[in-house]
Amino acid sequence: MQLEFFPRTRFSLLSDFHNLEATHLSIDEKIRLIQNPDFFKSPKANEVIKQQHAEMLDNILGFRLRYIEEMLIAEAQGFDPDGSLETWGPNIHNGIQTWVGLDLKTLQTPYSEIQRILQLLKIRPYQHIIDLGAAYGRMGIIIGGLYIKNSFQGYEFVKSRVDEGNRVYQELGLRKCELVAQDLAANSFILPMADVYFIYDFGQVEHIERTLKQIEHNATKRPVKVVARGKYTKQIIGLAHPWLELKYEGKLDGLFSLYVSGQGLMAHI
Ligand SMILES: C[S@@+](CC[C@H](N)C(=O)[O-])C[C@H]1O[C@@H](n2cnc3c(N)ncnc32)[C@H](O)[C@@H]1O
Repeated sequence: MQLEFFPRTRFSLLSDFHNLEATHLSIDEKIRLIQNPDFFKSPKANEVIKQQHAEMLDNILGFRLRYIEEMLIAEAQGFDPDGSLETWGPNIHNGIQTWVGLDLKTLQTPYSEIQRILQLLKIRPYQHIIDLGAAYGRMGIIIGGLYIKNSFQGYEFVKSRVDEGNRVYQELGLRKCELVAQDLAANSFILPMADVYFIYDFGQVEHIERTLKQIEHNATKRPVKVVARGKYTKQIIGLAHPWLELKYEGKLDGLFSLYVSGQGLMAHI
């Protein structure tokens, strides 16, 4: 019965994904889903549908996001009953803004937008991609499913998010993808080399500034592409990083901008 299931599966309406959510899928079936580019395409381009589609994909793949976020909120409320999403994260995570209590739809970039970003980047085999502040690591799911010759690392402060993302990666057999529990703001942290860095406004402005300086340092050794999502990262790049050349500004297809390190090193994009 399961073998007959896939030929009939369509990915054109939200209800198609809803049906998948309601179906018990084997690991092999989940693996086949993430190897299909249509799985990551949102039925409609508007933001609300993109977020709903992404939330359904998380459920289909078996991420336990709601449970983990509720545990984090409960921990934070115990510590700071009158707090809010502005204070809960910093209060339980050494002053780091980890967005505990933020609507799950906003915490992560929709899969369909990540897929668009990866297409625009024209990723070549064996290139390494890093997500700085990766939450549950949605980008790694697409890279592991569709870009099997590439490797992915996502750095994330919150250990329970890291563990859950790695649990799903392992279940799906994504051996070249990993999440790493790391404070990006730690003085001891040295940013590894990569071909692509993805930043969706993580934490505090000074931490984004520090990370961008580290990317600038790495870009003296090897050309890099930077994807920025969120107003702060884009503003800081615009004000203080002339070595990054804007190559693409997402409008209808998302809230991201793509940059390449200067002097025409990346003329092919
Ligand atoms: C807005 S979310 C973006 C998630 C993911 N990049 C995406 O676009 O789907 C930012 C994440 O960065 C993490 N973060 C914030 N400050 C951090 C730090 N200093 N070190 C590591 N992660 C951090 C937060 O916990 C949160 O999960």
